[in-house]
Amino acid sequence: MNAPDRKAMAAMVGAGHSRVDGALKVTGRADYTADQRLDGMVHALPVGATIARGTVRQVDTASAAAMPGVIKIYTRHNIGKLHRVDKDSGVTVDEHRPPLHDDLVRYYGQYVALVVADTFAHAKAAADAVTVVYDAEAPDVGMEAQPGESGEVDSERGDPDAAYSRGEVRLDQSYSTPVQAHNPIELHASVAVCEDGHYTLYETSQAVVNHRAAMAQMLGVPVERVRVITHYLGSGFGGKLWPWTHAVLAAAAARDLGRPVKLEITRQMMFQTVGHRSHTRQRIRLSATRAGRLSSLRHDFLYYASRFDHMKENCGEATPYLYSVPNLRVRSRYERRDMAPATSMRGPGAVPGLFALESAIDELACELGMDPVALRLMNEPQEDESLAVPFSTRHLVECLTVGARRFGWDRRTRGVGSIWRGDEILGWGVASASWLAKRLPAQVRVTLRTDGTAEVASATQDLGTGTYTVLAQMVGELTGLPLSRITVRLGDTDLPPGPLSGGSMATGSLVPAAAQATRAAIAQALGQAVKRKDGPYHGRSTADLVFEAGKIRATDAADSAGVRFETLLAESAVGEGKSGSSDNDADAGKLSLHSYGAHFVEVAWQPEIARLRVSRVVTVIDAGRIINPKTGRNQIEGALIMGVGMALLEETRYDARNGAPVTSNLADYLVATHADAPAIDVVFLDHPDTALNELGARGIGEIGLAGFAAAVTSAVHHATGVRVRELPVHIEDLL
Ligand code: MOS
Repeated sequence: MNAPDRKAMAAMVGAGHSRVDGALKVTGRADYTADQRLDGMVHALPVGATIARGTVRQVDTASAAAMPGVIKIYTRHNIGKLHRVDKDSGVTVDEHRPPLHDDLVRYYGQYVALVVADTFAHAKAAADAVTVVYDAEAPDVGMEAQPGESGEVDSERGDPDAAYSRGEVRLDQSYSTPVQAHNPIELHASVAVCEDGHYTLYETSQAVVNHRAAMAQMLGVPVERVRVITHYLGSGFGGKLWPWTHAVLAAAAARDLGRPVKLEITRQMMFQTVGHRSHTRQRIRLSATRAGRLSSLRHDFLYYASRFDHMKENCGEATPYLYSVPNLRVRSRYERRDMAPATSMRGPGAVPGLFALESAIDELACELGMDPVALRLMNEPQEDESLAVPFSTRHLVECLTVGARRFGWDRRTRGVGSIWRGDEILGWGVASASWLAKRLPAQVRVTLRTDGTAEVASATQDLGTGTYTVLAQMVGELTGLPLSRITVRLGDTDLPPGPLSGGSMATGSLVPAAAQATRAAIAQALGQAVKRKDGPYHGRSTADLVFEAGKIRATDAADSAGVRFETLLAESAVGEGKSGSSDNDADAGKLSLHSYGAHFVEVAWQPEIARLRVSRVVTVIDAGRIINPKTGRNQIEGALIMGVGMALLEETRYDARNGAPVTSNLADYLVATHADAPAIDVVFLDHPDTALNELGARGIGEIGLAGFAAAVTSAVHHATGVRVRELPVHIEDLL
């Protein structure tokens, strides 16, 4: 990067700009998917199965079809041809069987019919009136199995069995996490338009490019005939990464009716048909010397899949590299149940996995009578021992030491229930966090326009996390234009293909493509400047010119003022940037790329009234360069509050008799609200990781949730003496 770039960068990248789309959102002008109101639009609502296993014998639609406003009712007999997504095509769906494909019911709530009416109310009334006759079989939604001694070995080194049997101190404990539901406030919605065999699909998608490819396959049309639009998202937490069956149904109905079809699923359906985080059971066995040096670590875990599909909840993601331990094995297995397909949920795998691992480390510290921070520092690895490669950058030690200082950890007294504040017992706990860092392929287009503004465009989307803002900052950084003169276009597959919003990968993936596109647009503008006969730079070399503060200027001292770029443009200057996956980097596999963090948590326990809350949190994050500390802090704060929910509130329970998720609304499935939010102190270490991209920005979507629940349960143990190994913590566990 040249000198002017660096100067501009100080004002843009690293500055805590408010969201550029913030005003649109808070004034209701941001058009979310369900806000689309198109001419002739009709409303669809699916009918969900009321059994979890069996066969549809008959769907009686006659009385429903006669109800007010009903336009058409679809079953598998009239929905039209829908195709299966090819598993080898590189296109992702978590439910491969197309909706209304056959008579088999494989989970509760599976769609068995679709009602289309003139209004949502009419569609709802008619959907309730559709009568379905089943041959029901007894479902199995039991989740009591243990990991056992078999399964796929995911990572192994040394001889963990022998080392364990020789261990001076040993720990063998089991942990579990429940089924969790994503519960973004924005419901999943599709508004489908089909005209002349071309589809425009407004969708709540965290990955419009994949959504387009999947829908094209399922509808049986070339990808060019499908356009997917997601301008704004009311979050998704992974639930909106891949297409679900309602989206296919909306498109199929639009195809048949030739009218726009809007389908917004209900909150209850959010627990049934759009994925969840699998229940996990995990066993951790570890051994150490009396002094606290780990000698073996085994992590066996079990998760659940649906009858047809399989999403690995990879609880062992972080285990192989988090600690220095010569003997290790991570092993996984799964069982199938009569449940809907699971999917990625914020920090898939690592989040439930770190609950188990970090709980076990805390238990070991208690066993050894050691400070849990000191135990972690003692077992800090010098390299990624699973791959025998260096870390790109790893500042976990600094996370722990900075966090301990800010939290006041040295004032912690070890005894259970030994810290009081008024009538509350305080408990203090700590845990480490980690999450992978990766780049996905990305393309970005930057246009410098003759009106003095710039546009940056990519078919990625803003999950609500700030992608609009960081892209504007990137272009502002390199052009010197203020954010008010930069427009960002996202969430439309007509734009150059961008990355999904997930895995904490969007920002890090977009950085190189956005920088390249901006530089290409600048080069194009300089090229126009030297050709412009009536301009001051006619006939000069572009090498003599720079673009800064929105102006073009010659580098010689005489031209200190320069000229506003738009006065030299005959037409828009367009630059395209394209970057590849980090898996294809020259040094791929030679470095271990991860983000790290440390959580220090205080809980307050009032035994007289059995009230437990998380009262204070200090979290220190090492996620590389932070492009926007304001949106970044928001991300971590949101993850921590979600972590309060994970630790104390969230669980989806199933009715064993019919296989239904019974916690299917926000009164029964509790999520943490503002009232549950603790005092939060977030610290970013801000060490750039230039192995990932030129700015050294990794990602911050999931790291805040990773490990957090273990810090809470460790604090609960410190306050109450009760070690909760099955999330969430129930008050009755503590009585
Ligand atoms: Mo997330 S599971 O990275 O949307």
